[in-house]
Amino acid sequence: MKERLITLQLTERRHQELDTPDSELVAAAQAATDGSYAPYSRFHVGAAIRLDDGTIVTGANQENAAFPSGICAERTAAYYAGAKYPDKKFQAIAIAAREGDSEEMTDYHISPCAACRQTLLEYEKLAGKGVRVLMVSRKSVLEAESVASLVPLAFTSF
Ligand code: THU
Repeated sequence: MKERLITLQLTERRHQELDTPDSELVAAAQAATDGSYAPYSRFHVGAAIRLDDGTIVTGANQENAAFPSGICAERTAAYYAGAKYPDKKFQAIAIAAREGDSEEMTDYHISPCAACRQTLLEYEKLAGKGVRVLMVSRKSVLEAESVASLVPLAFTSF
């Protein structure tokens, strides 16, 4: 028998410790929550993806009365970026959320669901290097250096 340990390295920064590009990406994710259509969960999520030429593409969750038809903010942004800029590579994604009528971001970090991680992983593969994931809360930003680090033992090919 052999045991294997998989570790996850995260970096936590206060908002004022972010550099300018990351600060702009986080602000874009926060602003994108305004585009959320979430009448069922009232959980308003925004995502912002920075491409390799500095372009920022945003998305927000879009719900539907037939619940599984809805889609997360991260995939809205990723699929839009993929469709509109097929030749550009993803560099980083920031994710933020507000609850109900609150104007404030959540006091816990918003991390992508497993389906979004799987989707982002494929764009990371296309990019050829780590896509940084910035998970935003009101107080700080938690960074994973790559999507792959958030998907141990990922399914990547068949
Ligand atoms: N949601 C996202 O958009 N991204 C996440 O990372 C987690 C969940 C959305 C899906 C649904 O519209 C609402 O948040 C509640 O789950």
